[in-house]
Amino acid sequence: MSEFPSQNIPPELLEALLDNPHESQIVVDAEGIVRYISGSDEAFYQVSRKMAIGRHILELNPDSELTRVLETGRAEIGQLFRLGGKDRIIARIPLRDRNGNVVGAVAKLMFWNPEKVKELVRQVEVLQSRLDYYEKELQEAYRSRYSLQGVVGESAPMQEAKQVAMQAAASDLPVLIIGETGTGKGIFAHAIHQISARRERPLVRVNCAAIPTELFESELFGYEAGAFTGASAKGKPGKFELADKGAIFLDELGELPLPMQAKLLQVIQEREVERVGSSRTLKLDFRVIAATNRDIKTMLSRGEFRKDLYYRLNIFLLKTPPLRQIREDIPRLAYHFLSLIRNQSGPPLRIEPEAMGKLMAYNWPGNVRELQNVLERASSVAGNGPILEENLPMEIRNGERLNRTVDQELHPLKDEMAVAEKRAIQRALNLANGNRTEAARLLGIHRTGLYQKMRRHGLDAPPKL
Ligand SMILES: Nc1ncnc2c1ncn2[C@@H]1O[C@H](COP(=O)(O)OP(=O)(O)OP(=O)(O)O)[C@@H](O)[C@H]1O
Ligand SMILES: [Mg+2]
Repeated sequence: MSEFPSQNIPPELLEALLDNPHESQIVVDAEGIVRYISGSDEAFYQVSRKMAIGRHILELNPDSELTRVLETGRAEIGQLFRLGGKDRIIARIPLRDRNGNVVGAVAKLMFWNPEKVKELVRQVEVLQSRLDYYEKELQEAYRSRYSLQGVVGESAPMQEAKQVAMQAAASDLPVLIIGETGTGKGIFAHAIHQISARRERPLVRVNCAAIPTELFESELFGYEAGAFTGASAKGKPGKFELADKGAIFLDELGELPLPMQAKLLQVIQEREVERVGSSRTLKLDFRVIAATNRDIKTMLSRGEFRKDLYYRLNIFLLKTPPLRQIREDIPRLAYHFLSLIRNQSGPPLRIEPEAMGKLMAYNWPGNVRELQNVLERASSVAGNGPILEENLPMEIRNGERLNRTVDQELHPLKDEMAVAEKRAIQRALNLANGNRTEAARLLGIHRTGLYQKMRRHGLDAPPKL
């Protein structure tokens, strides 16, 4: 006679199941008449069981919504329910016979202590708002700092570069930016992203020269919690993941060792990454912008750069001209930087014709960045007056006649040596066409040493935020 397991349950077990101190339930029949009420409900409704059984649920609690479940036949799980001045989480479940007719309903209080649920909800809300905050911050931090208006220069090579930038911005294809140090590769990369359709999403910069081989994968692809010793307990998204829906800026691409080039190519081709320590594949949507001051063609022929990666990235090729090839832009650039320097205070600065002549004649191995640095220094020396020839550094004032002048004027040895060092570095950079590794080799010093010295001599200031 028994298809119902309940009929095999001994009555005392069934009673204990219904009336355990951790759950509370009230059962009504199809008419809404209370047929069962657990002990804990007695306390809530402040009625004895005896008084409750056989009465309509609305008599017990005029606000009860159990009758609705009888009408709709639909379960309502996880609703908030006020009882005895306290919020409770309740499930209202219709009970059906074997033919599917609603024969009653049960109301179960799901969480004895809804304060815990509220706490959880609160925590989730806090996390959500933090997430919103960090997403905004991240976007701000990565938001492109420039647009094409900030790229100064009207000379033919600059116009050409700007035209390529506009075309690249209108498409979603990779861009390769090649040019000597300080020629504005960074500013162009940001400008392209800024006017592209992806501008609302971050442009995430990866300095390929600065990532140690052993950290390459975790930096670029991210890692899961506990993926390796020293890994953060929470795991970390990689640069590609951060660039999802935005763009990734592979700066100093030419410095990337061959094995890493292979891995990079793979991600760019497949558009998916696996975090270190995870087997889950993340599908990503990113645009690639790469930049280098290296002579990639020579690197290709020497086997130092992968041809397949080069062809993958070299869809739009943007060449930033060295400053010595766009001398006509020097006054424009100079006044642009002066206006930036003078933005906060004082009247606009002027550059005396003799000083401008020197700026136009100089060879600028550090290119636009060097011009910017020279003007910053000169304007601080000049105070509120015009920038005079004498406010310029010695190598610019003296042009090619540097040696003779040094013979005539004698400075403290420290200064003489500094000037000689700077000049040697500039010559080396010139000879190496801006290739720092090559320049360091010519000078017989280590590349990091060269970087340090360039920084000291203002040949390699980091771009301003
Ligand atoms: N055409 C330009 N108009 C205005 N500012 C420029 C221009 N070119 C360069 N700059 C400025 O010169 C500085 C150096 O530019 P940027 O950092 O883009 O050079 P880079 O080519 O990336 O150099 P590196 O190879 O050393 O990284 C930056 O402060 C940048 O804003
Ligand atoms: Mg750069």
